[in-house]
Amino acid sequence: MALASEHGFRNLEAGDYDKGIIELLSELTTIDKSKISQNEFEKYVIANQNHHKTIVLECENSIVATGSILFERKLIHNLGTVGHIEDIVVKREYRGQDIGKALIDVLVQKAKRSGCYKVILDCNEKNTGFYEKCGFRRCGVEMRVDL
Ligand code: ACO
Repeated sequence: MALASEHGFRNLEAGDYDKGIIELLSELTTIDKSKISQNEFEKYVIANQNHHKTIVLECENSIVATGSILFERKLIHNLGTVGHIEDIVVKREYRGQDIGKALIDVLVQKAKRSGCYKVILDCNEKNTGFYEKCGFRRCGVEMRVDL
């Protein structure tokens, strides 16, 4: 955990709107800054503080890595909690420096501290090697229906 804390991850803040968080997420998937106002972003940050933690790594006033964990309270497993890791991305120029691994370490530690009995995620085949390096193993099959 020393590595992760050295990297200086912190929680997402309202002021991150102008620090490239949306541009960074566009390296992962579809997101368009012109469709999310600063006000909407700020409301999102405030509304997502309890069961949804997003952390970021800032470098020279720019967000260079981000990831989220959602805490799902279950009735099964005697009111157990599952952690869901989502939306992991490291800025292209910063990849290959163990930042992604440190990001996952921080999120898994948060899950441990919150009493989760497991942490799960969905990813593309091409990212399985990365998650295996982070201590994850293959489990189950993802299925979806587009709405
Ligand atoms: N396949 C196999 N091994 C990998 C891969 C890969 N795709 N990516 C990294 N690794 C290895 C590294 O070589 C390193 O190995 P080592 O410990 O033996 O040296 C280890 O995994 C850790 O790599 P990091 O440097 O920490 O990874 P990086 O900071 O480059 O981040 C990431 C990896 C997050 C996948 C990055 O490439 C990225 O942002 N990709 C685009 C967005 C993306 O696909 N995100 C994942 C979506 S899935 C989800 O969000 C749940």
